[in-house]
Amino acid sequence: MCGIVGYAGHQEAAPILLDGLSKLEYRGYDSAGICVQGPWGLEVMKTKGRLQALRELTREGAKLPGVVGIGHTRWATHGAPSDRNSHPHLSDDGAIAVVHNGIIENYLELKERLIARGCRFQSDTDTEVVSNLIAHYYAKTRDFLEAVRQAVRRLEGSFALGILCRENPGTVIAVKKDSPLIFGFGQGENFIASDVPAILKYTRKVAYLDDGDMAVFTAHAVTFYNALGDPIKKKPETITWELSAAERGGFPHFMLKEIFEQPKALRDTLHPRLQEGQVCLDEISLPEDYLRGIRRIYIAACGSAYYVGCLGKYILEKTCRIPTEAVLASEFRYASPVLGKDTLVIIVSQSGETADTLAALREARRQGAGTLAIVNVVGSAIAKAADQVIYTWAGPEIAVATTKAYSTQLSVLYLLALHMARALGTMEEEALSQATAALEALPDQVADTLTPERIAQVQHYASALFDNHDVFFIGRNVDSATCLEGSLKLKEIAYVHSEAYAAGELKHGPISLIERGTLVVAVATVAELFDKTMSNIKEVKARGADVLCLTTQDLAAEAEKTADFVITVPRIHPLFQPSLNVIPLQAFSYYTALARGCDVDKPRNLAKSVTVE
Ligand code: G6P
Repeated sequence: MCGIVGYAGHQEAAPILLDGLSKLEYRGYDSAGICVQGPWGLEVMKTKGRLQALRELTREGAKLPGVVGIGHTRWATHGAPSDRNSHPHLSDDGAIAVVHNGIIENYLELKERLIARGCRFQSDTDTEVVSNLIAHYYAKTRDFLEAVRQAVRRLEGSFALGILCRENPGTVIAVKKDSPLIFGFGQGENFIASDVPAILKYTRKVAYLDDGDMAVFTAHAVTFYNALGDPIKKKPETITWELSAAERGGFPHFMLKEIFEQPKALRDTLHPRLQEGQVCLDEISLPEDYLRGIRRIYIAACGSAYYVGCLGKYILEKTCRIPTEAVLASEFRYASPVLGKDTLVIIVSQSGETADTLAALREARRQGAGTLAIVNVVGSAIAKAADQVIYTWAGPEIAVATTKAYSTQLSVLYLLALHMARALGTMEEEALSQATAALEALPDQVADTLTPERIAQVQHYASALFDNHDVFFIGRNVDSATCLEGSLKLKEIAYVHSEAYAAGELKHGPISLIERGTLVVAVATVAELFDKTMSNIKEVKARGADVLCLTTQDLAAEAEKTADFVITVPRIHPLFQPSLNVIPLQAFSYYTALARGCDVDKPRNLAKSVTVE
């Protein structure tokens, strides 16, 4: 979490840093700050609150003149959000300024030692030990690079750092370990940032730093070093997507824009991999022999990506007949999982940097399991650490609550399922061709689901039902997995207490919570189980619940007999039906959050990229 930027060039640094931070706010937004190397040395301005507060404090950067600087937007881990705990952090002697994304795990021990040497601390953060440690070695060596090297050797944990030294004006040092960091090559100016959108306005040429890498740069030059301290060359890669992909483009919120981008994201992810009626996954190698030896598949992930895994269990077991389990990455490695060569661990992550998911991946590798990551961010830690990667081509997802990344992750699981089923011969030829053709049509069917009429209807229901304190999502089979995502969305952005239950499980406890006015959202799209879910609706209605039912168009008339409100989606191939079902639920959360006056794109206490365990 947290976003960092750095700049050395010929333009005023502060406005560029503020602009860069505005593209990184999705990483954290409880405080922000910048440090500019100005005529009087290292000048820091920082404040609790959104970036707007920093813009006002610095008068859009005008109060901090200078052409070299670093900036930070924070999601608090150590110490409450406050002016004092905001980054950048200066060393006690004022010689070093640091911005940091990550966690220094041994900071207490380092802090004690520094205090014993007379160093004073102003904040509760782990980061302040970094500036003081570098200053400590700088006082000894008078060599900025050497001081950073010596300090970094003593740090445990994860860090992307941007560092300035009062006595080395013009130079920025950046270091990366387990937190993302990119370098941007400009003309007479250079950049660092946690993510591409922060610098895309200024350059398309970037290099992804690897763990242990360091970049020492000025306006005109950069030298990269690897973990051993050897100089290395980094080839610039060209970013081909447009900045508009990371801007709201006329939509009131990123979340709404991203909901509507789903057909395109699915087309980009699916179509290049569907050729001549077959799934073609050139980027990975899962030979038949290998697949025949797989006894179990785990899908490890966090948050919505885990709920993709919950659907993945149904999809893979149905198509490939291999026992599959979705596991929470944060629990996986502590549960003594039994892994080995005959286990395939599929890792699902939008950001590719979620700490628990990365740890689950490492545990799987340590135990000799095969690992395959489904990731959206190119060059991210998870993409690099896995044996094989399939990228989702969702483009940058900015809203904290995922929509298009979720949909594309699910679509990659479909591809994988059909690819493996063909290799294993677990699906009849005809069924396989039908499914492949249906998958090709999915992006258009998602577009058909996003009609203005349907979205307006969802908005209407949300404006009527937004005031509920408790919501229960119920469904059976794949619908129960979709309920998990629908319920999470509502919690995340609308702050409504909501739970998802397999419909058949309701009477084993939660039904005691149903009373007059409780909202139950019933997802009933699995035709064979429709009647059973209708019975569950009757049970909750008998106890006073209001019921909003999501079903397919062919079942609408039946659903209307039982539920108070009905939303429909087109009926498609059953394997891919969940991809349509989730869309009204995303829109329902969005409009409920709006009706409740919530900050949809930046919900309280959350961040998009969760790099702490
Ligand atoms: C956060 C985000 C969720 C996301 C989860 C996992 O909680 O708000 O939208 O599903 O992290 O993130 P990942 O980047 O690993 O998919």
